[in-house]
Amino acid sequence: MERNQLQFPQDFIWGTATASYQIEGAVSEDGRGPSIWDTFSQTPGKVKNGDTGAVAADHYHRWRDDIQLMKRLNASAYRFSIAWPRIFPTGRGQVNQPGLDFYSRLVDGLLEAGITPFVTLYHWDLPQALEDEGGWLRRGIVDDYVAYVDTVSRALGDRVKYWITFNEPWVFTWLGYVFGIHAPGHATGLPTRALQATHHCYVAHGRAVPVIRANAPGAEVGITLNLSHIDPASNRPEDIAAARRYDGHLNRWYLDPLFRGAYPEDMVEHYREFLPEIEPGDMETIAAAIDFLGVNYYSRTVVADEPDQFGLKLKTVPQEGEHTAMGWEVYPEGLYRLLVRLGREYPVRALYVTENGAAYDDVVTPEGHVHDEQRVSYLHRHFAAASRAIADGAPLKGYFVWSLMDNFEWAEGYDKRFGIIYIDYQTQERIIKDSGYYFAQIAAGVPSPGD
Ligand code: FCB
Repeated sequence: MERNQLQFPQDFIWGTATASYQIEGAVSEDGRGPSIWDTFSQTPGKVKNGDTGAVAADHYHRWRDDIQLMKRLNASAYRFSIAWPRIFPTGRGQVNQPGLDFYSRLVDGLLEAGITPFVTLYHWDLPQALEDEGGWLRRGIVDDYVAYVDTVSRALGDRVKYWITFNEPWVFTWLGYVFGIHAPGHATGLPTRALQATHHCYVAHGRAVPVIRANAPGAEVGITLNLSHIDPASNRPEDIAAARRYDGHLNRWYLDPLFRGAYPEDMVEHYREFLPEIEPGDMETIAAAIDFLGVNYYSRTVVADEPDQFGLKLKTVPQEGEHTAMGWEVYPEGLYRLLVRLGREYPVRALYVTENGAAYDDVVTPEGHVHDEQRVSYLHRHFAAASRAIADGAPLKGYFVWSLMDNFEWAEGYDKRFGIIYIDYQTQERIIKDSGYYFAQIAAGVPSPGD
C-alpha cells in the first residue's frame, strides 16, 4: 500500500489512548482505594519482574505536561479511563471528591488544549472491596457500577461528549476468571465464571447507557471490544468450523447481544453446561441502542480443529512472518476485513478504532532519539487498512493509537513498550519517538514523505 493512498475524511478524529492503572501511579494518593490490580501485581509471580502500577508513568502528577505532548502530536482526541477506586475507594458509598476533581481538571485541561476527551468508565481497575464481595460474579455489582457511572457522568457530563462503558469485556472476564493471567487471578479453567462475569458486565453496560445519556446531554455512548479477524488454518471443513467457533467465542458472543439482543445460538449450544444466569429483561437491557462501537485490533487469529482439546476443541496456529515484541503477528489486512465486516453484518452507527499499536524493544540513541521504524511501519500499514475500509463503506470516524506513552502492560509489566512517546522510568523523562512524529503528520493531515 502506497503512502499516498491514506485518505481520511476532514473531520476524522486522531487520538491516542491510555488507561488509569497503566499510567497514573499515585495509588495511595488523595484517598484512592486499592484496586484488584494493586493486589494482583503485589502477588509474587503474577507480573513480570514484580512490576506494579504504584508509580507507572506518574501521569497523576504530570498530566499537564502530557497534555502539552498530545498537542505536539497534533492529537484531536484523547481516550483515558477513570479509576473507580479514586471515585469510590471501597466501590460504593461516599464519593471521594479529590478523585473526581483530578479527572475534572484533566478534562478542563484537555478542552483548553482543543483535545476532545473520550472517557472509558471501566478499564479493569475494580475496587478491591468489590472483588472481596465477589467482583463481577455477583449480580449486585450491576447496581454498584451504575451508581459509579451516575456519579462520574453527572460530574463530567457537561464537558465530556464521548463515553465508553467498558474496555474489552472478553479480556477481563476470560483472563481474570478462567486463565488467571489478569486480576483477580481466578484460574478455574472453565468458561462458567467468564460467561457469568460477562453477563453482569453487559447488564451493567445496558443499564448505564440511559444514565449517561440523561447526565450528559448530546453525548455519544459506546463500548469497546477486543475483536480479531479469524482465519481457518486450512480449507478443511473441520478447520473452517473451528474458526467459526472461535469467532463465536471471541467476537460474536460480545457483538450479538449488543446488536441483536441474544447470545449466538451455536455458542449457546456449545457452552450448554456453562451458561450464565440470565434474568427476564436482561437481553433487552443489554441491547440498548449505542452510538458507536469501539474496536481494539492488534492481530488476527488462525485456528485449527483439535478434537482432543478441552472446551472449544480447537487450537490457535502460530504463523510465520512478522511479529511484534508481544509475539503478535503483524496483519493489517485483518483490520480492514474486520471493519468492513462490522459495517456489513451489524447495525453499527459509527466505529472508532479505540486501540491499535505495537510493542517493540525501543532503544534510545546517545543523542536521545528513539528511531522506532518498525512501529512507524506497523502504524502506517494499519492506517492504510483503515483508509481502505472507509472507502469500502465502514463507518469509521476515528482512530486512537495505543498508546500515548509507554506504560504498565498488565502481566508483562514495564517490559513491553507500546508508546509513541518513550518513558524513562528512572527519571520520568518523556521522549517523542519517531512514531510520534509520524502520527503528528498524519493527524495534521500533512502528506507524509514519499507522497
Ligand atoms: C489491550 C488493553 C490495553 C493494552 C493493550 C496492549 O488489551 O486494552 O490496556 O494493554 O491491550
